[in-house]
Amino acid sequence: MPVTISFTAKAGTAADTAIVAVYSDNRLSPSAEDLDRDNDGVITRALKAGKAFKGKKGQILTLSTPKDSDYQRIMLLGYGDAAKLDRQGCETCGGKLLLALRTAGAEKAHLYINHDSAFEDLSGAAMAAHTAMGLKLRDYSFDKYKSKDDEDDESGNDAPEQCEVITAHEDEAQRLFAPLDAEAAGVFFARDLVNEPPNMLYPESFAKIIRDELKPLGVEIEIFDEKKLQKLGFEAHIAVGMGSARPPYAVVMRWKGDKKAAGIKGPLAFVGKGVTFDTGGVNLKPSGGMEDMKLDMGGAAAVVGLMKTLALRKSSADIIGIVGLAENMPSHMAYRPSDVIGSLSGKTIEVMNTDAEGRLVLADCLTYVQRTFSPSLVIDLATLTGAMMVALGYEYCGTFVNDNDLWTHMEAASKDSGEKLWRMPLDAVFKKDMESKIGDLRSLGGMGRYAGACTAAGFLEHFIEDGRPWAHMDIAGTAWIKSDTATCPKPGTGFGVRVLDRMIALHYE
Ligand code: BES
Ligand code: MN
Ligand code: ZN
Repeated sequence: MPVTISFTAKAGTAADTAIVAVYSDNRLSPSAEDLDRDNDGVITRALKAGKAFKGKKGQILTLSTPKDSDYQRIMLLGYGDAAKLDRQGCETCGGKLLLALRTAGAEKAHLYINHDSAFEDLSGAAMAAHTAMGLKLRDYSFDKYKSKDDEDDESGNDAPEQCEVITAHEDEAQRLFAPLDAEAAGVFFARDLVNEPPNMLYPESFAKIIRDELKPLGVEIEIFDEKKLQKLGFEAHIAVGMGSARPPYAVVMRWKGDKKAAGIKGPLAFVGKGVTFDTGGVNLKPSGGMEDMKLDMGGAAAVVGLMKTLALRKSSADIIGIVGLAENMPSHMAYRPSDVIGSLSGKTIEVMNTDAEGRLVLADCLTYVQRTFSPSLVIDLATLTGAMMVALGYEYCGTFVNDNDLWTHMEAASKDSGEKLWRMPLDAVFKKDMESKIGDLRSLGGMGRYAGACTAAGFLEHFIEDGRPWAHMDIAGTAWIKSDTATCPKPGTGFGVRVLDRMIALHYE
């Protein structure tokens, strides 16, 4: 069971574990001082005796308590330099705390967070809310396919049932935590989808999961099966799915908030690449590492996770989501390199390599969403290129934006959420490079692997109409991690949900 988190000014029922903040050089927070006094100086004595714990960010020291104590154990949670502490730092501390609580076998915890005058940008309430968020995000597991408990699997160990965050600013902390809680639910939905194996998650089952999960929350859902896609003219998307026995689908979602934000004409649209497995197709990928290609629907997962978050927190914005779902397989039915295919836009595309499939799926979804809804802006998310990983690794999401205002909003949301974006170049040279000799466009640039992430963006740019503000987020590196972080056990991260939710909350509501 996941940990239940609550905020309160005064501790309620008894708990087995008390957690108090300690800053750099073992400066005690006021609650640490109080607890030390109530427990015969156990904290000050331990800090004098041992040298390893220094109150560094994320450091934790677990102490046993005297016989007559209210608690079985006290945990010192290091927050590092108080003057430099930010939200992400608090989330890191919260994530590490969850693991320590598991190791200790804690069942119920009191986490004392006091406002500290050394803080400049971070209120005591924000410290409480973001520490709780880190705890929550780390408390994720994906063990539905384990037939019995795996003792070596740390993520499977039971978390504490309850964590009460004790703060003098309980209302404010609760107010800050509520949207984060909705984000965590969206992130978990996205992680679940990415972690799901491709024999279970394929276009049709993906579409059903979206409907079952989001419809009850008030999201309007429209599902396009292959016949409907054909009728509409999604020719490029269909070409990608042709080699698979499992037909392609698209799902359109709409969350209609209850008020129009000033100055915004038309909904915001989010487009996700949902290739449920990418073998490369006839241009088959090398076998080593191919198992990772179940992540290739990470963009679609982020879009549906975002829709869930918006619905849960009842966003006032008007939001469209669309995901293009297909499985890229080699077979006698599959599309071939050198095929010339059509697209919903009317542009023809010379297929240079069947492994460059994501851009084909996105192209039709981009056209559809623009022509149907006239959105005020479009953002697509896709695990689009290995080249993006070569450039930025797991840390940054390369973001191509044709509009400086939109970039300003995304950058601010990135800072706020901690999901890192790095602006990449859109350039007429990359766009031009995608023109074909025998059709309108070709799916690979003449530079081959060089600038692969940029030419992919240049290809997508051909499908943006009327100079509409648009951003392309290549999440190939950030959708999936090889080793765990403080707030995410590997591998699916749910990247994109938080930065886009913050962008909507800060600038479009
Ligand atoms: N889904 C892959 C990109 C990818 C690679 C995502 C590794 C995550 C991790 C995409 O469809 C692909 O195969 N891209 C090719 C493009 C090439 C054929 C131009 C690539 O990156 O090699
Ligand atoms: Mn591919
Ligand atoms: Zn792919």
